[in-house]
Amino acid sequence: MSRYHDEFQRSIDHPEDFWAEQARRIPWFTPPTRVLEYDEANHARWFVDGELNICHAALDHHVDQGRGNQPAIFWDSPVTGNKRTITFTEMRDQVALFAGALRGLGVEKGDRVVIYMSMVPEALIAMYACARLGAVHSVVFGGFAPHELAVRIEDAEPRVVVAASCGVEVDRVIAYKPIIDKAISQSAYKPDACVVLQREQVTAEMGAIDHDWDTLVAAASPADCVPVKGSDPLYILYTSGTTGKPKGVVRDTGGYAVALHYSMETIYDMAPGEVFFSASDVGWVVGHSYIVYAPLLRGCTTLVYEGKPVRTPDAGAFWRLIEAYGVKSFFTAPTAFRAMKKEDPDARLLQHYDISSLKALFLAGERLDPPTFHWLDDLLDVPVIDHWWQTETGWPIAANLHGLESWPTKAGSATFPVPGFNVQILDREGKPADTMEQGSVVIKEPMPPGCLAGVWRDPQRFFSAYMAAFPGYYQTGDGGYFDEDGYLFILGRTDDVINIAGHRLSTGEMEEVVGSHPAVAECAVIGIHDALKGQIPVGLVIPKDGFDGDEVALEKELIALVRDQIGAVASFKQVLVVNRLPKTRSGKILRKLLRHIADGKEFAVPSTIDDPASLQEIHEAMMQRSLGAAQDARQV
Ligand code: COA
Ligand code: AMP
Repeated sequence: MSRYHDEFQRSIDHPEDFWAEQARRIPWFTPPTRVLEYDEANHARWFVDGELNICHAALDHHVDQGRGNQPAIFWDSPVTGNKRTITFTEMRDQVALFAGALRGLGVEKGDRVVIYMSMVPEALIAMYACARLGAVHSVVFGGFAPHELAVRIEDAEPRVVVAASCGVEVDRVIAYKPIIDKAISQSAYKPDACVVLQREQVTAEMGAIDHDWDTLVAAASPADCVPVKGSDPLYILYTSGTTGKPKGVVRDTGGYAVALHYSMETIYDMAPGEVFFSASDVGWVVGHSYIVYAPLLRGCTTLVYEGKPVRTPDAGAFWRLIEAYGVKSFFTAPTAFRAMKKEDPDARLLQHYDISSLKALFLAGERLDPPTFHWLDDLLDVPVIDHWWQTETGWPIAANLHGLESWPTKAGSATFPVPGFNVQILDREGKPADTMEQGSVVIKEPMPPGCLAGVWRDPQRFFSAYMAAFPGYYQTGDGGYFDEDGYLFILGRTDDVINIAGHRLSTGEMEEVVGSHPAVAECAVIGIHDALKGQIPVGLVIPKDGFDGDEVALEKELIALVRDQIGAVASFKQVLVVNRLPKTRSGKILRKLLRHIADGKEFAVPSTIDDPASLQEIHEAMMQRSLGAAQDARQV
């Protein structure tokens, strides 16, 4: 057997021994005696009686081990012209002080803190400060609108909100405080306090519950790490599901720390002292796991980048960073490289930089399309590794295990299941699919450490969204297949979730917003192919009787409405006014057919369809606007 297959098989045959061994590699205050248990949904829970603090494991422990003078964070912000280096000792001390400041505002173990910040070191300081106190953070991505923030505040019920005064988007400064004030006013639940980091680009106006970050910290005493149980929650991260209300994915502490530590070595091949760069945002799971927690747990330096792959100042931004900081492993979403390729197709800018420190490139967040894979593979002398995972799992489900044993890559495949993830493909009846046969990608329980512990205060939703369809298995929501060599191919979501520039959004949620417009009788929002962002949403809208016929005005209003309610990140910029939508005779909109039309796929017209002529009409409307497959046809 190969090293990979041996390791994988051990993890499946003897999960308790396998993960108990990995757990011994991180520092606990009290090592766990109970390794694996199951909750009422028959879902695995790990290390429930161990006691630790992830802030201690990621910061204090390394200072104690002599890493105090090593940089913990390199911060590079071309959008503001700033750079900073923070050592492990400085980071520990700043986190301890901010934890003291939060405690001064009443934050204790188990309390929630919502964080709405840009890519600044203080975002990491705030997250670690919560962890230090045993408080539960919930970071909200800065591209979300006040309404989305309000929904999360109402669900998480934070004692305190921590915010930056602004975010900087290339050449645009976005004031965050008005967004926060609006969100708090919309939320039925009100936090006690809001801490504001005043950035030099915008000075936020302070209100009755607001506190200045610097003033609070200046008066604070450092707080020690509070021991928490392995199964205590570290954070809630909201993610899009099928319905409008986002799901609060709950992450435990012990299993997460063990899994991240394991992944840094086995997947990313990172040793203490080396530099890891993940170009994402702290608001997404990639940011939580591979900007904030995993690199520091492993004693590595994390590069925190406030900028874009292009326009800051050009498509050489990533190459510059790799050279400047000696990055060993780099992780981003394929869309970032599509953006770079568009501006610099021959990668001429790469010639200006020495990127010999780079040993592997990792891509995830969306499917790595073969043209982007080949462009990178031809360009770079290092392995280009597609790996597949999701907010719920917290770390990769399938990857080429670069740190253990590299296998040849296959374009379009995330290679093999990662040890611990018993990935299977099931058909509609829940029976195992054959090799090469497409089906639902599921994970057989026990899921390994690090995966979601539940949906915040909604066990029923956890069960119905993930565990109900195939008893004994976690349903990932993705479709895919295994080939004859055991390589896993992920083909995309089987639900209403879409992936826009590596950002996960719900078309169901957009439909709710579009449908709330007074002129809209019915609508469907579908994800269509986009050459740069992978997918973008398009709204198909049937107006109400009495509509004045001004389609351009309606489109503008709907675009503004989605931007206002969900945020710019939804990239909702296309609306087609149609007379009818394809439906079953029972009135259900056939969204799958709409997606096939947009993808230019051939499909059989189902006998259950009410109005087959609607398909032709929509196809023509999309062609006219060069949407989806038609967009590419135009480009060729
Ligand atoms: N705060 C406020 N607004 C934000 C934001 C933030 N943190 N992030 C994005 N936005 C805005 C953008 O400015 C844009 O606004 P616009 O419609 O007025 O232009 C909108 O949200 C859509 O953003 P995005 O889809 O990111 O498009 P973009 O053109 O700004 O950038 C990419 C495209 C590909 C360069 C960028 O998405 C990218 O680098 N993605 C890859 C890395 C990544 O973040 N992956 C996530 C998970 S791994
Ligand atoms: P998120 O929860 O935001 O990380 O999004 C998770 C979803 O993104 C997955 O369910 C997949 O649909 C998609 N995804 C992430 N990584 C990959 C990948 N490497 N290949 C294909 N799809 C991916």
